[in-house]
Amino acid sequence: MISIAVLGYGTVGSGVVEVINTNHRHINRRAGEEIEIKYVLDLRDFPGDPVESILVHDYNIILNDEDVKVIVEVMGGVEPANTFVRQALMRGKSVCTSNKELVAKYGAELLAIAKEHNVNFLFEASVGGGIPIIRPINQSLTVDHIDEISGILNGTTNYILTKMADEGLSFDTVLKEAQEKGYAERNPEADVCGYDACRKIAILSSLVYGKQVDYEDIYTEGITEITKRDFEYSNLLGTSIKLLGTAKKIDDKVYAIVAPFMIDENHCLIGVNGVYNGIFLHGDMLDNVMFYGRGAGKLPTASAVVSDVVDAVKHRHTNIMTIWKPEKKELGDIRHFRCGFFVRVKGRNIESAITDAFGKVKFVELGDNEEETAFLTETMEEGVFHEKIQAFDLITRIRTTF
Ligand code: HSE
Repeated sequence: MISIAVLGYGTVGSGVVEVINTNHRHINRRAGEEIEIKYVLDLRDFPGDPVESILVHDYNIILNDEDVKVIVEVMGGVEPANTFVRQALMRGKSVCTSNKELVAKYGAELLAIAKEHNVNFLFEASVGGGIPIIRPINQSLTVDHIDEISGILNGTTNYILTKMADEGLSFDTVLKEAQEKGYAERNPEADVCGYDACRKIAILSSLVYGKQVDYEDIYTEGITEITKRDFEYSNLLGTSIKLLGTAKKIDDKVYAIVAPFMIDENHCLIGVNGVYNGIFLHGDMLDNVMFYGRGAGKLPTASAVVSDVVDAVKHRHTNIMTIWKPEKKELGDIRHFRCGFFVRVKGRNIESAITDAFGKVKFVELGDNEEETAFLTETMEEGVFHEKIQAFDLITRIRTTF
């Protein structure tokens, strides 16, 4: 019998308890041991909930209990999660977490502490919710040089963008509806400004490139400026607009960016809609590989957390080698990132000025009398685009992948 403790009885924590209770026989068979939830830690009380009998408010009870071999940290936020996780690892307890803020900031350090104490620090649920992506990168995609990892990494924004595309609604209208339905947080900043996706691509690129990619270094834009009219153009072009987190190797430099991209029908992620997430990698031997599924939600996220618990139980007394050194990975200057642009500028009959500045472009017309001109550029460096666009009265620009 292996005793575990769950830190945090919120959405994911209660999901972990539910997953283990519902599938306990199957999970025990897979783990090769019987798994017992000995404690749940939360500041709150839950009168009438079966969890009451194992609920504790003092972390030291868990830390000092030698029977507890695996700790599930699903509290979220950097502190006190960071302190609790460090203490657990140093006491020889493995930790499984869904906490992307913690992993993005301290992943390399916590992996090193786990290694030193011959236990495991596992974080499958920190990116892509229920989608297996951390373990495949660490254990399956070990042969290839990965030159690109791109993902729709945030379910809330993908839901909003999908609704805007399908129903011709504005960002504010869809956000309000998403908040009413509980899909979006009351304070939606982390999702709609791209911060959540930024931490997730920081974790993925740190694992892919084996060094610390600091999320503060990743150029990040959210979806708040995307309009109904942008989608009218996008629909006319047969494309879609998605919030992508991308890390791309170009000439030995890694460029990382989170921003809305216009993607066309040939892009692997074009069919990833609603609250779903999709992650695509390109390897030099493997070519393209893609992972798709529910990127959030109680049971999918809990499923990924419990898969880590099973792995931790299977690897007791063995540290699973994970290459993510604390050494900083310097990212390429975003001004040298290369992509195409969908552009809307004020004014009409300015096609020749646009062609003079940008060379070959494709003009796009909605066929109304709006005083604007829209066009698609070919691939160019960000810095060059910004220089050239200065001569125009810019309404919006969205990067493209084609
Ligand atoms: N807010 C996140 C999302 C939850 O919408 O994808 C999962 O990390």
